[in-house]
Amino acid sequence: MADQFSALVLTEDDGKVSSVVQDMGVDELPDGDVTVRVTYSGLNYKDGMVINGIGRLVRNYPHVPGIDFAGIVEDSDSDRYKPGDQVILTGWRVGEAHWGGFAGKARVDSNWLVPVPEGLTDKQAMAIGTAGFTSMLCIAALEDHGLTPDAGTVLVTGAAGGVGSIAISILAKRGYLVAASTGRAEQADYLKSLGASQIIDRAELSESSKRPLEPENFVGTVDTVGGTTLARVLAQTAYGSSVAACGLAGGANMACTVLPFLLRGVNLLGIDSVMQPYDKRVKIWKRLVDDLSMNSLDGLTEEIGLSDLPEAANDILKGQVRGRLVVKL
Ligand SMILES: NC(=O)c1ccc[n+]([C@@H]2O[C@H](COP(=O)([O-])OP(=O)(O)OC[C@H]3O[C@@H](n4cnc5c(N)ncnc54)[C@H](OP(=O)(O)O)[C@@H]3O)[C@@H](O)[C@H]2O)c1
Repeated sequence: MADQFSALVLTEDDGKVSSVVQDMGVDELPDGDVTVRVTYSGLNYKDGMVINGIGRLVRNYPHVPGIDFAGIVEDSDSDRYKPGDQVILTGWRVGEAHWGGFAGKARVDSNWLVPVPEGLTDKQAMAIGTAGFTSMLCIAALEDHGLTPDAGTVLVTGAAGGVGSIAISILAKRGYLVAASTGRAEQADYLKSLGASQIIDRAELSESSKRPLEPENFVGTVDTVGGTTLARVLAQTAYGSSVAACGLAGGANMACTVLPFLLRGVNLLGIDSVMQPYDKRVKIWKRLVDDLSMNSLDGLTEEIGLSDLPEAANDILKGQVRGRLVVKL
């Protein structure tokens, strides 16, 4: 039946979260003024947490996860969208507080959607997804604070992951010299193919240092790792430069001194992709079309299905996913 679709559904029993792919009807979807036929979703680190019941991100079960999706509007009570429009959703706590994109259909608030920008397919939009949207936010923030391609070396941590891989590709296309920090030495050729010119062993940045200031190695950083790595990166940031902090793959706690801020005027830029306003979202998606090579994007993307998600969710938490996984619905 046209109204039936497959969905990954999470249930909770005695604190343990489990998942199953099952059929669902449109009448089971939550309230919202737009119903979307989802064509692609993406796997993000937060999905790994949600599917595994980590961090209490989901309070109500049964739950449909998936923090982003692209698709085609099927029904709309909104003036902004009509049936047939191609749309993207990232953020707004969809997939956590609201049902998400790991389903053939989703019903949402039209204010959370943006149009798929001209020049992107819906699959490319989800190959970028929340991860790539965040990479672009980081780079835009660094450039808003004065970063230019001729300044020196820009560091990307968690380089072989989703945010990291897309950040390297964008920086390389914009002419930056990129250093990629990874725990996976075997991904060196992959990272170079995206445009990194220097590979740094993750261990060099993850050990804490007794020195509050270290050599000024980087003129900017996209940091997806957090924890001790972020503290070390701050201590190695050049005078007047900035670090865009968006992730916690290596830990949420950070012990650092204030000296990089006081003696080198270093800026720590916090990046949140979830609550960005509509106009900024549209600008960032437009920049992604201009600043990201679609060949690079294809090379860092792999396609999976709904039933592959539980295993892939474990892999992403273990740091074993390379680049981006798109989920075809
Ligand atoms: N602020 C926001 O709005 C926002 C949006 C999207 C994502 N994020 C966050 O950004 C981070 C990256 O997301 P993602 O989707 O790119 O995830 P991902 O694909 O899993 O990438 C994370 C990468 O971090 C590295 N890593 C994993 N475990 C590590 C550890 N224990 N110590 C040091 N490095 C480790 C790995 O790269 P290597 O193997 O190359 O070392 C891994 O591939 C996550 O923390 C996510 O929650 C935040």
